[in-house]
Amino acid sequence: MPTFTVRDLPLHYESSGAGSPALCLVHGSGGSAEAWRPQLEGLAGTTRVVAVDLPAHGRSGGNPSASIDAAAAVVRGLVDALGLGPVVIGGHSMGGGIAQAFALAWPELTAGVALIGTGARLRVLPKFFELIETDHAGAVALITDMGVSARAPASLRRAITAQTMGTPAPVLASDFGVCDRFDVTARLGEIRAPTLVVCGEEDRLTPPKYAEFLLARLPNARLVLVPGAGHYVQLEQPAAVTRALADFLTALPVTRA
Ligand code: COA
Repeated sequence: MPTFTVRDLPLHYESSGAGSPALCLVHGSGGSAEAWRPQLEGLAGTTRVVAVDLPAHGRSGGNPSASIDAAAAVVRGLVDALGLGPVVIGGHSMGGGIAQAFALAWPELTAGVALIGTGARLRVLPKFFELIETDHAGAVALITDMGVSARAPASLRRAITAQTMGTPAPVLASDFGVCDRFDVTARLGEIRAPTLVVCGEEDRLTPPKYAEFLLARLPNARLVLVPGAGHYVQLEQPAAVTRALADFLTALPVTRA
């Protein structure tokens, strides 16, 4: 099980492929590196892909990061530990917030940015917080239901539910708390790296409006809207998201290995 260490805490990550710039992927609230399984497999022939389990998620221990910036510092620890150098920093939902924070804090380590099902501001429905406190399974069921398109197969719903249930209720509440406090809307102009924005057309948690806002404010962005997908777009339409990432990676103006 590959690990890296941040302040003496061993943290887990998944890795595939080879080449640079590496694509470093960060999961969303209640998730883990497994949220990127299709991309770990589908992009292995394109470049090195690394997907982290943030503290208290997946196979990583410790306490959840108290802010998006603190989580970005954990990802910086991964980049340093593996000597990845400038990376394409990608994230889904909360992970997309972490990717924006990473690009803002360390532009010299940012060869590109991939923002998937996310926004520059991530306010959370109060109902999620209420339910997580009183009915963890009910909260996860609601998140799953709102997180996929109307036509999502039962197997996908079960997989997302199982993954999110694997995150303890206090950690899920913490994730949504850090999202609720996140807002870089006034700073998007500072992210000059090439940026790919991806959003499911039926995303109800970070709707296409959020992606269009990113496209309008980021200096160097392109948008891919994915039909037949909700918020968990990289799992619901994995081939479309993998293709969008592969096209973006191969078009980057960086020497490739
Ligand atoms: N990009 C672009 N526009 C955004 C945005 C973003 N990241 N975040 C909010 N906005 C817009 C909203 O669409 C809204 O526009 P409107 O006034 O034209 O309707 C406005 O900014 C204010 O929205 P917000 O700051 O979110 O406050 P609110 O009180 O209107 O709504 C929620 C609060 C929680 C109901 C709302 O944010 C929501 O539905 N969120 C999505 C559901 C969720 O919980 N997602 C989880 C994200 S991790």
